[in-house]
Amino acid sequence: MPSLNDIRSTFLGYFERNGHRVVDSSPLVPRNDPTLMFTNSGMVQFKNLFTGIETRDYNRATTAQKCVRAGGKHNDLDNVGYTARHHTFFEMLGNFSFGDYFKSDAIGFAWELLTRDFGIPRDRLLVTIYHTDDEAAEIWKKVAGLPDHKIIRIPTSDNFWQMGPTGPCGPCTEIFFDHGDQIWGGPPGSAEEDGDRFIEIWNLVFMQNEQFEDGSMRALDMQSIDTGMGLERIGALLQGKHDNYDTDLMRSLIEASAHATSSDPDGPGKVHHRVIADHLRSTSFLISDGVMPSNEGRGYVLRRIMRRAMRHAHMLGAHDPVMHRLVPSLVQQMGAAYPELNRAQPLIEETLRSEETRFRQTLDRGLRLLDEELARLPEGANLPGEAAFKLYDTYGFPLDLTQDALREQGRTVDTAGFDAAMAEQKAKARAAWAGSGETKDAAIWYDLAEKHGATEFLGYDSVEAEGQIVALVTDGAEADEAKKGDTVQIVVNQTPFYAEAGGQVGDTGLIRTESGAARVTDTRKIAGVFVHVAEVTTGTIARGQGAQLSVDRDRRDMIRANHSATHLLHEALRRTLGEHVAQRGSLNAPDRLRFDFSHNHAVTAEEAARIEAEVNEFIRQNSRVETRIMTPDDARGLGAQALFGEKYGDEVRVVSMGHQGNSGKGTDGQTYSLELCGGTHVARTGDIGAFALLGDSASSAGVRRIEALTGQAALAHLRDADRQLGEIAGVLKAQAGDVVNRVRALADERKALANEVAQLKRQLAMGGGGATEAKDIGGVRFIGRKVEGVGGKELGPLVDEMKAQLGSGAVLVLAEADGKATVAAGVTADLTGQISAVSLVQAATAALGGKGGGGRPDRAQGGAPSLEAAEAAFAEVEKLIGDSL
Ligand code: ALA
Repeated sequence: MPSLNDIRSTFLGYFERNGHRVVDSSPLVPRNDPTLMFTNSGMVQFKNLFTGIETRDYNRATTAQKCVRAGGKHNDLDNVGYTARHHTFFEMLGNFSFGDYFKSDAIGFAWELLTRDFGIPRDRLLVTIYHTDDEAAEIWKKVAGLPDHKIIRIPTSDNFWQMGPTGPCGPCTEIFFDHGDQIWGGPPGSAEEDGDRFIEIWNLVFMQNEQFEDGSMRALDMQSIDTGMGLERIGALLQGKHDNYDTDLMRSLIEASAHATSSDPDGPGKVHHRVIADHLRSTSFLISDGVMPSNEGRGYVLRRIMRRAMRHAHMLGAHDPVMHRLVPSLVQQMGAAYPELNRAQPLIEETLRSEETRFRQTLDRGLRLLDEELARLPEGANLPGEAAFKLYDTYGFPLDLTQDALREQGRTVDTAGFDAAMAEQKAKARAAWAGSGETKDAAIWYDLAEKHGATEFLGYDSVEAEGQIVALVTDGAEADEAKKGDTVQIVVNQTPFYAEAGGQVGDTGLIRTESGAARVTDTRKIAGVFVHVAEVTTGTIARGQGAQLSVDRDRRDMIRANHSATHLLHEALRRTLGEHVAQRGSLNAPDRLRFDFSHNHAVTAEEAARIEAEVNEFIRQNSRVETRIMTPDDARGLGAQALFGEKYGDEVRVVSMGHQGNSGKGTDGQTYSLELCGGTHVARTGDIGAFALLGDSASSAGVRRIEALTGQAALAHLRDADRQLGEIAGVLKAQAGDVVNRVRALADERKALANEVAQLKRQLAMGGGGATEAKDIGGVRFIGRKVEGVGGKELGPLVDEMKAQLGSGAVLVLAEADGKATVAAGVTADLTGQISAVSLVQAATAALGGKGGGGRPDRAQGGAPSLEAAEAAFAEVEKLIGDSL
């Protein structure tokens, strides 16, 4: 009996032999389609090949595509567990032709594979076709020899396949398997078609049209093929089972669930095990593709699926979290075909465990409340919307979880009442917000947030995506379109552009639609809405258009590197300077990073060198940067460094990087840096390239600021420093290694020379060192001298020297240097009782046309406008000496 893994290989091998390229499954989050919640079929990744927008180096492909159908056009969530063939996650096997073969070969391949390679008896197969498709009918007759009554014409959309509201589409033919008359049911199109006897196993779509938003459709230029066969269905058939959940793979998961909950896989808890097995697959694959549980968009669908499974585990009597314990079984079954599961295993386990731990805290109380409400209701009555809303709001019960719980009792929820309660709560939140003093301008964003929901951010792991323009705002008001030259704020439903937050600057880039393009110069976030600030550069762009969003990749890469380096820097600072280091602010721009932190002293050169070396050591370690979602408490429990000034909700994003041990700095395997952070980061620390500290300065009291560079900029900085050193060495005619000694020697020499010059100037001022003629004024010896080239600082020593020469007497020096005039006077100690140097300076200054001067009675100094009236100044001073005797 072939296992599902065997069947997958047989399928891919068959088409590979027939000239098809085996292409990997694309991620569950479609980057190339804003209208899709999740990848829901094999053709999604090839959408643009069918419409001709894109070409590749192959025109035949085959895939095993992971698909999720929960939320959006194809939604199977509510039925999972209760039916034989509904799944939220399944694998679709497909073969594709892009303008190569068409109907006849597609039918030929399918028939050959089913009847020859898979060995299905021909007489158990029958097909449906679109009612007007005579060509397909003819081919089936010819290729398979099917009689007319086994080629059933279906006039409805059942045989016209569409991926979603827009996109490539076309009529299809479906292949059915007859499980035999022991099972009730009739062929498709009959009154009993809903029975389980005739099961569709393969859908071949003849892609020939494209559907547009306005309902119109065009014929595609080329004719293509898209087929889809659920692996679980064909698996059941080939394993002789009627129920997909009895296939080997699903069965092993059901048994793992039974084992983990110590219950019978086929007992009264059967439905629970099936729900758990299915939801384990969808949640694990979604997490491995980067979706994290949240209260919005894709993250909320994930949460709904997880919580639905957790309630079923609870109903099996499990007292502790169960889901994460089943992950190893899943990885064992599917890890070989989908290596991303292996890589993400720790993340999947941790996310499931933390979600289940948290949900269990309210699950019991919520279920009790539900029982009480139901006890009050008359037999068979529906649950009031208010009660369902309370379960949602207070106990975290998604609406479909409550509906699922009621289903077992044959009741439903008053969903209109639920919606009304939700609307009322939003209105209240809005009123509270309006009173919070935020600017009136922001009202429009709040309106948009309410109308369109928060923007979904796809930019953690991609810089390109398609989105749909949901609003354009010009001059503070909504507009239908914007034309070349207009400044406009663009809102899309999903975007790879990062909006400024947590110190990381907003992304720039390009938004293109079929009729124009706009250059995005900044991205901000208001009330959960990402606002792309842009200027239309060509044509026009209009609300409702599909748009190609491209972030400036190089700039984003530099920002990423700087942001990740900031985390390493933060940790290196803490380890080098002490635990008191806490972030006080940061900037992660493309060209540099800045980090403010609490610390009381300047960072010494030796500390800076250690910090820089440590950051570079973890860059070289090149370890993977990991992101997880958890409660703030769990994150702090792990030792996460909280970012400054951020408000935290129920859950936080935790970014970790670096392993200790290699460095000999700590316990082996321990994470080096762990921070709560919503920013974008490098995939591996090595992507930072290099790290260079620029320096540290005081930012405010007790806060230091470090600036640094990474990657190319760090290398350029070091190169430049090295070049300058080389130049200096050249000027000094020294080796680079000798530069410091040489400069030090030069500085010493310069100091010695400066002293010598000062002394020489003084000597010169003293009259070339010879004896000086002193005047006698009533018995007091007086020297008055005018000197040039001697400055303020040098006058003191000069006056002292002249006084020493006099022994007893008074001196006055009028000096001029660098265009500045200074007056200095001195009186020997024996005379200060009669004559004050201060009075002499003041008298001289006044005579020179100035004012002031000061000092002590034995020595004083002051400034003057000029020395033009030098003679008058000497005369004044001599007179003053004479008068004071
Ligand atoms: N895209 C087609 C389907 O999903 C094959 O059924």
